[in-house]
Amino acid sequence: MNFTAFMSSNDWRPPAPTPCARPLGAFALLRTIYNNPLEAWTREHFEQPIVISRLLGTQVAVVNEPSAIRRVLLDNASNYHKDWLQQRVLSNGLNGGLLSAENEQWQMQRRSLSPVFARKTVMGFAPAMMSAAEDLIKRWQDQNVVDAAADVTRLTLDVLRRTVFSEGLGGDPEEFRIVMTEFFNTIGRIDALDVIGAPNFLPRIGRRKARSALRFFNSSVDKIIATRRQNLAEEPSSVPKDILTLLLRARDPETGQAMREAEIRANIITFISAGHETTANTLSWSLYLLSQSPAWRERVAAEAYREFQGPTETLVDRLIETRAVIDEAMRLYPPIAAISRQAIGPDVLCGVAIKPRDMVVVSPYVLHRHYRLWDRPDVFDPRRFLDPGCDQIDRYAYLPFGAGPRICIGATFALQEATLVLATIMRHVTLEPVPGHRVWPILRVTLRPQGGLPMIVRHRAADAEVSGAARTALKEAQLVQR
Ligand code: HEM
Repeated sequence: MNFTAFMSSNDWRPPAPTPCARPLGAFALLRTIYNNPLEAWTREHFEQPIVISRLLGTQVAVVNEPSAIRRVLLDNASNYHKDWLQQRVLSNGLNGGLLSAENEQWQMQRRSLSPVFARKTVMGFAPAMMSAAEDLIKRWQDQNVVDAAADVTRLTLDVLRRTVFSEGLGGDPEEFRIVMTEFFNTIGRIDALDVIGAPNFLPRIGRRKARSALRFFNSSVDKIIATRRQNLAEEPSSVPKDILTLLLRARDPETGQAMREAEIRANIITFISAGHETTANTLSWSLYLLSQSPAWRERVAAEAYREFQGPTETLVDRLIETRAVIDEAMRLYPPIAAISRQAIGPDVLCGVAIKPRDMVVVSPYVLHRHYRLWDRPDVFDPRRFLDPGCDQIDRYAYLPFGAGPRICIGATFALQEATLVLATIMRHVTLEPVPGHRVWPILRVTLRPQGGLPMIVRHRAADAEVSGAARTALKEAQLVQR
């Protein structure tokens, strides 16, 4: 397969590791998985429908064929559980929440939690998302250079704090942010002991730090839950309609059962954990990609300028080009770069026999850059997600949120937040990478820019400037497309 096929001089290939020509040896593979698993993929992965290898005695099948992926994630999903590596990495505090639960416990939680993330409920969170974005712009007012990755991470944590506990945490929000950041930094690195399957009783350095952060978090949340329960009992009409209230009121529609206190706590930390860094990375990569594409930067700014003047309730649905940039950013840099499962019983995928306990990996990173499935896969081109053409993308070739029963429950929330925040930022500022800083993707549970994203901020003088510059950029873009 020719890797430069279809390239033209206008094609810009954002930074990504060149796939290895051959599979790495066992020691190099473990080292690469520890440092940056993204650098372990081989050319074969980006060219073949299925690639079989062995990792410490276990057969691993990396599947890139849409109908086989559909079989693993949907049609035969009951034959595939979350694998041991995910369970080990996730066991730091998320245990008992939706992300790590299996079987009956998962079904009951998924039924109870689905209404919390229904489109109508999520639309009610739009003002919190927009005001968090406005606050970010205000913070950037006096700054010339910012770490955009750190700042959007702060923003997504802020959005979750406002939507989960809208009355605040009772304590110092900055203390909460520092503790949460420490928690995610320590659980965020895949421990070599976990990769080699060392017994759980062996101490992991990160885990001890994470535990103390978790103790702080649990005690803060317990206090808030107690106060909210009391308010719900005494003055039910005055309690805010945030996620905490929704969780306390949630009932399994089949059994009428409420969730236990420990499950509520585990799910709050699950939402913060699963929802803040993933959405922040989507925003970071979108900002970086736009900083390298003046035409798209101005198209998004012009759309924001135009659509922010219309009704707020339908705003997110009108930000079509902004959304196409976000879709393309998640194609090139999917925040969850690998979804893995362990087979329970035998199966056959792409003609290959899968045995019980084999690992099956669906990697959105590889899938989204696969040469059989995408035209110019390594090139940034949001037009793929605009009409005409977007309906040709196979449902199982583009999986930033997974698929099947375990599809991301927060997808609507994340897409709404990313779209509103990106449009707000682009309407007010332009960003440019600080010269000399190498932007590079690294996988630390989520796929983020290594060493952050130092950017030079320029505030747009007036909205008129947006529309003027946008008109020029649009003309240029139309010329390129012809
Ligand atoms: C751009 C942002 C996001 C991305 C790319 C993303 C991606 C994913 C993916 C790929 C899965 C499936 C994992 C698997 O099948 O093994 C997943 C599951 C999940 N996500 Fe997200 N997510 C995002 C935002 C959020 C947000 C904002 C929340 C909550 C506030 C959230 C909560 C969850 C939960 C609870 C699950 C587990 C669902 C289940 O097992 O039933 N995610 N996410």
